[in-house]
Amino acid sequence: MKIGILGVGHIGKTLSRKLSATGHDVKVANSRGPETIDATVLATGARAVPAAEAVQDVDVVIISIPLDRVPDIALLLAGVPADTVVVDTSNYIPGRDSQIAAIEAGQVESLWVVEQLGRLIVKAWNSIGSGSFALKGMPPGSEGRIAIPVAADDDGERAVGMALVEDTGFDGFDAGPLAQSWRQQPGAPAYCTDLTRDEMPAALARAEAARLPKRRDLSGAAIAERFGVGTNPDSEYHVHLSRALFM
Ligand SMILES: NC(=O)c1ccc[n+]([C@@H]2O[C@H](COP(=O)([O-])OP(=O)(O)OC[C@H]3O[C@@H](n4cnc5c(N)ncnc54)[C@H](OP(=O)(O)O)[C@@H]3O)[C@@H](O)[C@H]2O)c1
Repeated sequence: MKIGILGVGHIGKTLSRKLSATGHDVKVANSRGPETIDATVLATGARAVPAAEAVQDVDVVIISIPLDRVPDIALLLAGVPADTVVVDTSNYIPGRDSQIAAIEAGQVESLWVVEQLGRLIVKAWNSIGSGSFALKGMPPGSEGRIAIPVAADDDGERAVGMALVEDTGFDGFDAGPLAQSWRQQPGAPAYCTDLTRDEMPAALARAEAARLPKRRDLSGAAIAERFGVGTNPDSEYHVHLSRALFM
């Protein structure tokens, strides 16, 4: 498929490497210009382009930027055809993102993104830590392969998202409509806990909306205390912490 990725940070750079390595035609962009994109991001064949070019003439756009930057790309996506699938990896992280009143009041994060962009999205890859995402992919059918929930309102778009998750080395798990995607948000049992396909249904079902923000913030505080604000923890620590706090 032809894929444009906006954002080449912790998650976007791994998306770029993995999806181009499996034969997809991948263009990547950040906010500062192609010349600022590290060569390692392009090592498996992706091309660095300006953001406007990344979303042109593609089958899929993947957004992997801080949630509060999503409104900045709304104009860019306004010109993207309706049949282009837009996949979003974002999470609301207060402290990193500016406070978003609607989400603080309980709006599901993916539905806030839909509102900002004025189009449907697929929510995927938001619930795997960057360390696990980079290191723990496995071939289909492997024992213990980690599953990644994929939520969407359109069945065809969800199927595209799930197939791309498979291409990155993880089981794509059908997590239903966007309205239920709070079950894969930060603080939920399925968030950054590296569960298998068999473990995923119970984890999604066990999520309690009212507890998520407090658990998310406890995790953020523990990570900031240990590694410093804005630093991503290694996979082992992150999964251990997330399982202790969220499950
Ligand atoms: N880190 C994780 O473990 C993790 C796991 C799952 C999901 N997520 C979520 O995935 C998203 C990305 O996270 P991350 O950790 O990869 O972020 P990150 O390391 O901070 O990288 C963010 C990327 O977004 C780019 N960006 C920002 N504004 C942009 C714009 N207007 N147009 C194009 N590119 C833009 C940045 O480019 P510039 O530097 O040029 O601005 C940068 O390449 C976040 O919403 C995060 O919550 C993160």
